[in-house]
Amino acid sequence: MSEYTERIQKAAQALRERVPFIPKVGMVLGSGWNILIENIENPIRVPYGEVPGMKVSTVPGHAGEWVFGTIGEQKVAVMNGRLHMYEGWDPKDVTFPVRVMKALGIEVLILTNAAGAVNKSFQPGDLMMITDHLNLAGRNPLWGPNEDELGPRFPDMSHPYDGELMNLAREASRQLSFPIREGVYALLPGPCFETPAEIRMVRTLGADAVGMSTIPEVIAANHGGMRVLALSCMTNMAAGILDQPLSHQEVLDTANRVKEPYRLFMKTLVQMI
Ligand code: HPA
Repeated sequence: MSEYTERIQKAAQALRERVPFIPKVGMVLGSGWNILIENIENPIRVPYGEVPGMKVSTVPGHAGEWVFGTIGEQKVAVMNGRLHMYEGWDPKDVTFPVRVMKALGIEVLILTNAAGAVNKSFQPGDLMMITDHLNLAGRNPLWGPNEDELGPRFPDMSHPYDGELMNLAREASRQLSFPIREGVYALLPGPCFETPAEIRMVRTLGADAVGMSTIPEVIAANHGGMRVLALSCMTNMAAGILDQPLSHQEVLDTANRVKEPYRLFMKTLVQMI
């Protein structure tokens, strides 16, 4: 066993000692998504600092705790706050919690984030389901010797986002008459927002949204054979589209404005899985 897989097993064991059930669904809450915590009944909270081997996120709006509990009949493990590469974490640290979820027996991973809308027909507040992605970070959590216990050396990425889960999201959207967008998410490393030229570049490459996270977790989850769904809140139009500066405050303000319909949508969707 490598030092990394040993760390994963230790963290999973520490969580097993605190939580008396095995969740089916894991979730990672990105900027502005912590409202989803309110969907969780009988929550068991575990601060990241109390899990051996876990790093603690440093970004405002990222609480830094695991919340285990139920949403209706569904048992969930939620990471309230994620780790980002721009904080200086190694991609393997960023994806460590995903590995821990897999070690706990979690099969489905739902990732959420805030993103800038590159597609000019989108509007701030829109929810976009990620159907494919562009990893433009120049980094990959699978670099280094492959850990065969975790997954194959050359994982297939033809279907990084699970088709059945995407259909469930479409069904939840129909049931609630809550429209969702679909599109390609491009990862640029941040932490500065992009330049207008970078946004024109990713639009030319086929991106509909741009952000600074999520793809490392998608790669690790696919490597480990988990089923993945990812959702982006379009918190702002990307750089250069509107003549106004971008700020983290705008990101949080937009997410705050749409939190109630998002919470309901996710509550419905998670119970359909
Ligand atoms: N760019 C990158 N990341 C983001 C943005 C953006 O415009 N908005 C929210 N996260």
